[in-house]
Amino acid sequence: MDGLTQLLACIQDISGGTYSNDIMELTSDKYDPFIREVAESVGLMMVRIEGREFALEQANEDLKCNIIATIKAVARGLSLRDPYTRGHGERVGKYSDRLARRLGWSEDEIWTAHVAGTLHDIGKIGFSDRLIQNEDTKVDAEMLAEIRQHPEWGHCMLRGLDFLGPALESVRSHHERLDGTGYPNGLKGDEIKPGARILSIVDVFDAITTNRSYQDAMNFDKAFSILRKLAGPSLDPEFVEVFIVEIEENGLEVVEDNFSTCTTQSSPLPSNKK
Ligand SMILES: [Fe+2]
Repeated sequence: MDGLTQLLACIQDISGGTYSNDIMELTSDKYDPFIREVAESVGLMMVRIEGREFALEQANEDLKCNIIATIKAVARGLSLRDPYTRGHGERVGKYSDRLARRLGWSEDEIWTAHVAGTLHDIGKIGFSDRLIQNEDTKVDAEMLAEIRQHPEWGHCMLRGLDFLGPALESVRSHHERLDGTGYPNGLKGDEIKPGARILSIVDVFDAITTNRSYQDAMNFDKAFSILRKLAGPSLDPEFVEVFIVEIEENGLEVVEDNFSTCTTQSSPLPSNKK
């Protein structure tokens, strides 16, 4: 291949987004001055484009982080209304991350699982005071209707954030069950995407291993037995077993109480009951 043909091939690669150092080889003495001069200019242009692309990617990542931080701040607002949800989103995000990683998912899929887990209950911000303040296990039809709406409300809140991608669907489907008895849409089997399936498992697990108004935190044996009972009709049996192994090996998630340092004598924050 002569120098001019090589030069053309390199320029075509660069214009297609493939940045290789082949262009630099054309700057050596064995090529005629015209080829060398063009190759140097194109090489310099390539380095500048790469630099700008890197800066742009970095800015995009920073933007995503800031948006997520903002959403988390809003989600934490929920825990001021309902102290039992304090830390729940963050723990569910971390459990989702761990399960997705153990299942061998890609880094993008793991990120999506983590974000969906963190934000999955954000729609509960729409709950009425009456429902939030209810500490009974019994709820009337009106409260039940509200509860069944929260995945859809969460999806509505987040759907303008396109970069969340499949996380949006996981938020909407985290209470769907394999046998079709879940909500909000009564999806069945494969209609429920893997992201929502892992979310529903870790959501149940965190709910039963932390103190709630209606129950004390369960130990591993009891929690695993409940997950296995739900595996099949409700939860994905394969994912349940993988998650149990993950918890047996790496234990529970503990997250910092973001509000404990904000408490003052004059305005105490609501606290979890034992
Ligand atoms: Fe939920």
